[in-house]
Amino acid sequence: MLNFAKQLAFDAGSLLVQRLGSARISNKGDIDLVTEADIAAEELIIERIRTHYPKHSILAEESGEAVSIGGTSSWKWIIDPLDGTTNYAHGYPCFCVSIGLEHEGVLQVGVVYDPMRNELFAAERGEGTTLNDRRVNVSEVSELSNAMLCTGFPYNVRERPDFTREFTIFTMNAQAVRRDGSAALDLAYVACGRFDGFWEDGLNPWDVAAGVLLIQEAGGTVTNYQNQPLNIYTKKVVASNGVVHEAMLALL
Ligand code: IPD
Ligand code: CA
Ligand code: CA
Repeated sequence: MLNFAKQLAFDAGSLLVQRLGSARISNKGDIDLVTEADIAAEELIIERIRTHYPKHSILAEESGEAVSIGGTSSWKWIIDPLDGTTNYAHGYPCFCVSIGLEHEGVLQVGVVYDPMRNELFAAERGEGTTLNDRRVNVSEVSELSNAMLCTGFPYNVRERPDFTREFTIFTMNAQAVRRDGSAALDLAYVACGRFDGFWEDGLNPWDVAAGVLLIQEAGGTVTNYQNQPLNIYTKKVVASNGVVHEAMLALL
């Protein structure tokens, strides 16, 4: 199933690149966009899963939750066909495909593919994390003052000006803070040590399912803001190399 997920992410990512710059864009909300490419990539992924694993459940951003043929399955695919839609719509080359697979509520497989850099991050429970088939680990940075962090802003940011407090406090205490616009890719970057930590309030399961497993299998830590193991169906996520985790929580 890991190889199946990798191929799926690769094919959906290739579709995104083919349509970059020409996909029609529409508004889901005030500032929340969706493009034809989101829909087409999701259709490709769902159709392929339906063909190979017709009994599995699927939770996908644009289609919602679809119960498997024949009832609720213990396997569930959790899909973001295009994470970083606003970037994509503006031609800013920072976006990815994110595919996670749960068995009885436990993540087993996670794949994040960046088609612009041709970087495929993959993890299977108990087997470690790879980037283009080479093993990767979280960073060893131990002080927040040496840490490169990343965050994201939710779509309802205009109703939630409090996010600036967190952004300010981390900017004052870390070496650097980035805001890239693709939470799944941000988590993959924590897994391979490019970022030392990440936080965001307002995420959905399809943003984080794959990334959480990538980080856990690379030796890192993912929790909610109360330092409890992350339930991917809740909104607040703190992810790190594990070493700077407490320092991050202290600031939140
Ligand atoms: C969004 C991105 C962004 C994050 C938002 C997400 P989308 O996903 O991951 O970085 O800040 O919270 O909704 O809409 O581009 O798939
Ligand atoms: Ca997303
Ligand atoms: Ca998306």
